[in-house]
Amino acid sequence: MGQKHWFWATLTLSSITLVAFVFAGWELVENRFFRDANYLTLHYLYITRGVASSLVLTFWAAWFVLRQRRQSEEDLRRSNERYRGLLEDFPGGVILYDKELRVVEWNASAEQMYGYRKSEIAGRPLPTVPSERVEELREFMRQVDGGEPVLNVETMRLDRNGVPFPVQLSLRPFRERGEAIHYLEATYDIRERVRWRDAMVELEKLTSMGKMAAGTAHHLNSPLAALLLRVELMRERIGDDGDLARIEEGLKFCRHFVRRLLDFSRSGPVNKEIQDVEAAVQSVAAFFQPVIQARHATLTVETEQGRGLRVCADRNLLETVLLILLSNALDAVPAGGEIGMWCGPSRDDQAEIAVRDNGAGISSADLARVFEPFFTTKEPGKGTGLGLAIARNFANEHGGSIRLESEPGKGTTAIIGLPLVTASVPAEGVLR
Ligand SMILES: Nc1ncnc2c1ncn2[C@@H]1O[C@H](COP(=O)(O)OP(=O)(O)OP(=O)(O)O)[C@@H](O)[C@H]1O
Ligand SMILES: [Mg+2]
Repeated sequence: MGQKHWFWATLTLSSITLVAFVFAGWELVENRFFRDANYLTLHYLYITRGVASSLVLTFWAAWFVLRQRRQSEEDLRRSNERYRGLLEDFPGGVILYDKELRVVEWNASAEQMYGYRKSEIAGRPLPTVPSERVEELREFMRQVDGGEPVLNVETMRLDRNGVPFPVQLSLRPFRERGEAIHYLEATYDIRERVRWRDAMVELEKLTSMGKMAAGTAHHLNSPLAALLLRVELMRERIGDDGDLARIEEGLKFCRHFVRRLLDFSRSGPVNKEIQDVEAAVQSVAAFFQPVIQARHATLTVETEQGRGLRVCADRNLLETVLLILLSNALDAVPAGGEIGMWCGPSRDDQAEIAVRDNGAGISSADLARVFEPFFTTKEPGKGTGLGLAIARNFANEHGGSIRLESEPGKGTTAIIGLPLVTASVPAEGVLR
C-alpha cells in the first residue's frame, strides 16, 4: 500500500475511534446525570455532543495533517542532504547539464579535477570538452536518448588551463518530472592508469625485443668469431690489401654489437659476492691500460680513499660496466687526453667509482638521453648506444645508482654508486 493510502487509512480509523470515544463518554454522562431529563434538555445534549465531536474531529484532523506534513518535509530535507552528500563525496567528477551543454550541477570532485568552482560555472556552457570531442559527446547524448547505455568509455577532457587529460566517462539521461531532459556525466581522471598501461605496453615490447635480440645475438656469436679468425688468417697469408682490413673492422663491430646485445638482454641469476672496490678498480685499469696507451691518452688511478671499501656485486658485471665507462671516456678524448679513475665513499653511505675525462663533453639535450637503449652520437658502425643502458641495468640490479656530469668542451664524469657492505657481513659470504 502506498504512503498516501496509509495516511488516509490511519486518519479515518483514528477519527472513527475518537468519535466512538466521545459518543461513549457522552453516553456515560447522560446515564449518570441526565437519566430523567426532558425532551428539550436531551435535544440540547445531542446538539452539544454533535458540535463537540465535530470540534474534536477537526482539531484531530488538523493536528494529524500538520504533523504528517512536518514529517514529510523533514524526510525530504534529510534525503536531500543525503543525496547532496552522496553527490559531493562521489569520487568522480559528477556534472549535470542540459541539451545545450549548460551546467546545472557540479560536484566537489569536478571542482578538484577541472579547477572550476561550482559558483563560477553553474549556468555557463560546459568548458571541459575539447572542440574535437564535442561531436563525440553529442553522439553519446543521442545514444543515451535512444536507451543505449554509455558506460566507462575513455575520452579526453580539458582542465582549467586547457591541458587535455584522459578520463573514463559514463553518461545517463536525467529527467525531472517529465521536464526537459538533462544529462548526468560522471568522469574519472585516468592519467595514472593510462601512464601505467603505456609503460606496461612499452615494457612488453622491450621484453620481446630483448628476447629476440638475445636469440639473434646468440646465433651470430659463433659464426662471427669463426669469420674473424678466417679473415685474420687470410691477412697473414696474402697480406693486407685494405679491403681485408675493412672487412675485419666491420666484423669486429658486429662482434662488439653482439656482445653488447648479450650484455643488455642478459637474464638469469646475478652472482653477487663481496668485492673489494679498490681491487676491482685497479684490475680494470691494468686491463685497459694498453688500449689507452695505444690511443696516446693517459690514465691516472686514485684509490686511496676507497681503500677497504666493500660492495656486494657480480664481479664480471662490475668489470664490464667499468670497461664501458672507460671506453666511453677514451672515445671522447683527443690524442693526449687524460682519463682518471677514482673510488671512495659518498655522503649517503655508498661506495662511488668515478671515471673522468677531459674530452668533448655532452650537450644537455644529449645528456637527458644517454641512458636510453640504442642512443648514440657515434657514426654508424662505431657505437651501439647500449653501453650506458647496460651500466644503468647493472646499477639498478645492485640497488645502486649511476649519473653523468658533463660540461661540453671540458669533459665528463660518470659516477657509479653501490651500497656499502658493512663490517658485520662475512667477507666470503655469497649473497644473491
Ligand atoms: N665520457 C663521455 N664523453 C662524451 N660523451 C659520452 C661519454 N659517455 C657517453 N657519452 C655519450 O653517450 C652516448 C651513449 O653512450 P653509450 O656508451 O650508451 O653508447 P655508445 O658509446 O655510443 O656505444 P658503445 O658503448 O656501444 O660503443 C654516446 O654515444 C656519447 O654521445
Ligand atoms: Mg659506450
